[in-house]
Amino acid sequence: MIPTREDCLRLMVQYGMLEHIIDHSTAVARVALFLSIKLNRKGQRIDLPLVEAAALLHDLTKTECLRTKEDHALTGSRLLKEIGYERIGDVVAEHIHLSKEMDPSLVSEEEVVNYADKRVRHDRIVSLEERFEDLKGRYGKSERALELLEGLRRATFEVERKIFSILKTDPDHLQDHLFEAGNGRRNGASGGKSFLRD
Ligand SMILES: [Fe+2]
Repeated sequence: MIPTREDCLRLMVQYGMLEHIIDHSTAVARVALFLSIKLNRKGQRIDLPLVEAAALLHDLTKTECLRTKEDHALTGSRLLKEIGYERIGDVVAEHIHLSKEMDPSLVSEEEVVNYADKRVRHDRIVSLEERFEDLKGRYGKSERALELLEGLRRATFEVERKIFSILKTDPDHLQDHLFEAGNGRRNGASGGKSFLRD
């Protein structure tokens, strides 16, 4: 079962997501959906409604976790499964770390949402390098944390290589392509809540 955009917006409000996290999530959804549509045109079989809903809801419990210090990928996944969204829960569980072995030729919904989240800083499209510099500044408070971030950085570059070798384009052109497709602002991707009303 996949909720509509309107259902997702209701859940975002119901679970008290902070405004800037909603903006971030709508931007991630734009990027994830855009990449998925392009990938499907190249023969991939990505479930588009699943990607969109999972991207919109990937940080559903983050606001609360800022206070509780829980793992929001885990609590978000658990909550979504409890309310009947099993597959969305699977995708949300993987939005920070991908736990499964990567198929060399197939892009999963988990990978595309995970990757899109790494290309959006707040509500702006950035390179992976810029996003990881941002993450290091915020979370790299110990040697161990820095090591984990480095592992995550390498894994994300692998996903990027796979996605863009299928698309036969350069990751740096993502923002221009989104802009041309009318899906983003030149300096941002979310367009605020209007995305949810499209
Ligand atoms: Fe997150």
